[in-house]
Amino acid sequence: LIFEKPSLRTRVTFEVGIQSMGGFVVFLDHTQARLGERESIPDVARNLQCWVQGIVARVYEQRVLEEMAQNITIPVINALSDKFHPCQALADFFTLEEKFGALKGLKLAYVGDGNNVCNSLIFLAARLGVNLRIATPASYAPAQDVLADAKRVAKETRAKIELFTNPAEAVEGTQAVYTDSWTSMGFEAEEKMRRQVFKPYQVNRKLMDQAGPGALFMHCLPAHRGQEVTDEVLDGPTSVVLQQSENRMYVQKAILHALYT
Ligand code: CP
Ligand code: NVA
Repeated sequence: LIFEKPSLRTRVTFEVGIQSMGGFVVFLDHTQARLGERESIPDVARNLQCWVQGIVARVYEQRVLEEMAQNITIPVINALSDKFHPCQALADFFTLEEKFGALKGLKLAYVGDGNNVCNSLIFLAARLGVNLRIATPASYAPAQDVLADAKRVAKETRAKIELFTNPAEAVEGTQAVYTDSWTSMGFEAEEKMRRQVFKPYQVNRKLMDQAGPGALFMHCLPAHRGQEVTDEVLDGPTSVVLQQSENRMYVQKAILHALYT
């Protein structure tokens, strides 16, 4: 495990998950120095490959993961980058499947920043046939290439990926409403400005009342109470945030099982 950014859920679920499957982990705390500073990224990856059978990496730049993977043959698992958070999105759709039984045709809203979590939700929604209604400020829309890929895939799966700027419009008729922090790790310098821009995108009781009846509330956590979500919604009866968190462990064990058995 090699992490350039802090983590609670991802680190603990991978550590506990790997050990419960009979493996063991070495945790490399890279929060104080960027990967590639002391030696090149391919050199780090090639050395690690001499001693370990897989790399789980949380990085600032998606490029770093790709550069590692291109230079070695052992699996490199994305534990979050600036662009994607695939383990999170897998746990999220697994949670929805547990709740609703099937995913095809499900209506999910995402409200807030078109960030790494949003990009991974789009990637999977397109493949799983989920209807995803995304509300972001115009200049914080999800990545264009991710949307283009989703559009192509959705032709076959009949998923609908729609963009909005009005949160009330996006949540209409949805069975679950998802949000994430307004300021992702790496964007701290913009925090003050982002708090202003995203204010109308808070998920509160009023917005949840505009979603479908009994709509679930979802968040990858950590949550910033009183910013992107109110206490009332986060701790409310339809919040499934802890199920999402618990499911991180199971889907990651499934990833490891698929890779190593
Ligand atoms: N959701 C998530 O990835 O949490 P951590 O940042 O605590 O790992
Ligand atoms: N979008 C958030 C997710 C944290 C798990 C971030 O990148 O900081």
